[in-house]
Amino acid sequence: MFGIPLFPERASTIATEVDALYFFLVGLSVVMSLLIATLVVSFAIRFHRRHADEVGAQVHGGLMLELAWTVVPFLIAMVIFFWGAKVYFVMASPPSETLNIYVVGKQWMWKVQHTTGQREINQLHVPVGRPVKLIMTSEDVIHNFSIPAMRVKSDVIPGRFVQIWFEPTRPGTYQIFCAEYCGTQHSGMIGQVVVMEATAYQSWLSGGAGEGSLASTGEKLFADLACNTCHRPDSRGRGPVLRNVYAHPVQLQDGTMVTADENYLRESILTPAAKLTAGYQPVMPAFQGLVSEEQLLALIEYVKSLSTEQGTPKP
Ligand code: CUA
Repeated sequence: MFGIPLFPERASTIATEVDALYFFLVGLSVVMSLLIATLVVSFAIRFHRRHADEVGAQVHGGLMLELAWTVVPFLIAMVIFFWGAKVYFVMASPPSETLNIYVVGKQWMWKVQHTTGQREINQLHVPVGRPVKLIMTSEDVIHNFSIPAMRVKSDVIPGRFVQIWFEPTRPGTYQIFCAEYCGTQHSGMIGQVVVMEATAYQSWLSGGAGEGSLASTGEKLFADLACNTCHRPDSRGRGPVLRNVYAHPVQLQDGTMVTADENYLRESILTPAAKLTAGYQPVMPAFQGLVSEEQLLALIEYVKSLSTEQGTPKP
């Protein structure tokens, strides 16, 4: 409109659905506002007091009218609820096969780590037509990762992973914002998503992964930190065997079962005693403060690479 970008492009599969719901809500608000304003003004004109001693007629209920103004808004609210829930569930449940990319927010930049080893700052290269899952955390305060053109947005919180997913539909460059005030340079915490055709993406991938895959970085770190002295491939170690742990159920000391997702692996590295695997002693040192967020990602990716189940853990 007049060259002013009032509305972001639609560049993901979910964008059309999000916009349809948004326009419905805006349209509904306009209709209701006009209806109410018109009734207020017309009733004020029609029923205004004509003499100083005029007394209004008492009205004692009107069943049909009261039913109508209860049932109609209820039905409208239910439409909004079910429609909103439907879009939410699509956005909250990534497909089983996704391209997983890690994002770490810090004051004031976005650090992107690809599983193939590439690292980027304030840039995110993704292929068109493939679902992308971002596994995100923060190493300081709460940030919010937002790509308006993809219609995805999520708080990025220190101490845990959050996930969003989107499937780009058009090659191009799209804006990334931090959408949570996070300090003086918050407004500068921006970047670009570069959506590429599959072939261009492949050639981008083949350059600049000098250090090898993220899992191989993790494997090296696993040895450097001497994790491998207790977590041995056979069951004779002092710690659990890590093969096929990721995305599988784990029985804890207190009898409960958890699924070993990224957040569980993270917690078990940083504070191992919090959710101890049944049958093992709390002998593992806590790595809280000893490994950086990026090292943690590498370790987690290494543990994931030991699992045959590479997909999303089912809750
Ligand atoms: Cu990070 Cu605002």
